[in-house]
Amino acid sequence: MIVLDGKKTAIALKEEIKLTVDKRINDGKKIPHLAAVLVGNDGASLTYVGSKVRSCEQIGIKSTLIHLEDTISENELLQKITQLNNDDSLDGYIVQLPLPKHINEEKILLAIDPRKDVDGFHPSNFGRMALEMDSFIPATPYGIMELLKRYKIETSGKHCVVIGRSHIVGRPISILMSQKGPYGNATVTLAHSRTENIEVLTRSADIIVSALGIPEFLKADMVKEDVVIIDVGITRVPDTSHPKGYVIKGDVAYEEVARKAYAITPVPGGVGPMTIAMLLKNTLLACERRD
Ligand code: GUN
Repeated sequence: MIVLDGKKTAIALKEEIKLTVDKRINDGKKIPHLAAVLVGNDGASLTYVGSKVRSCEQIGIKSTLIHLEDTISENELLQKITQLNNDDSLDGYIVQLPLPKHINEEKILLAIDPRKDVDGFHPSNFGRMALEMDSFIPATPYGIMELLKRYKIETSGKHCVVIGRSHIVGRPISILMSQKGPYGNATVTLAHSRTENIEVLTRSADIIVSALGIPEFLKADMVKEDVVIIDVGITRVPDTSHPKGYVIKGDVAYEEVARKAYAITPVPGGVGPMTIAMLLKNTLLACERRD
């Protein structure tokens, strides 16, 4: 059984990005600059954004954290977005999701300049990705593809079952896995909360990408021998015996499924670190495109 080590792979990737950033600096070119907009104080979002900003520092990318009160109005946030679009020092930025309920996420994402949309959430980037044109690919699916590539996991002709149809993970990964190219060409089934008899589908899958958010949903009797498992779930489960008061659980019952799997991503240390590395890669790409 192969553990698809996202932590190790992300370190290697960040090292590669750092070399390119160092070369830019030596050549007197602009240092890439990423901004992250965080609205409110959601614990998980604070952690993710903190990791993103710290990772930038590690590899020499400039980062700016814009932390806004959760009482900010939609209009005020839209004004902030306009400011970021017009800020020439900035190569790319992200707006951490979810946003407070009184703010229309769709309106905010539409306002982001697609050239600075390093999350790849703007319809222009999403559409371009679906049409196999140059775009920014959302960091989590991009990280999954990179992990499969670096571990030389065969995807061509394989049956890939994606669980979850979110705009951030499920839907884009279903598109990428089925697209033409060496790390695509899979036959994809997109399962979701309304799917009937999901275990019939998962048992026929060569590759399962689970982005559901239900801790330990996928059990050993739901998969076949030698399956490849990509676990995107990261749910905080209350646990008083842990100093933080919670433990992080994936969508997959790791121990029992790992015994049957050909390859599997751990949680934590699988897809999560890859997401951050790919955001940095997109930031570098945004900077290169502006040269
Ligand atoms: N919330 C959960 N994942 C993500 C992500 O990749 N980007 C942003 N902006 N928000 C998220």
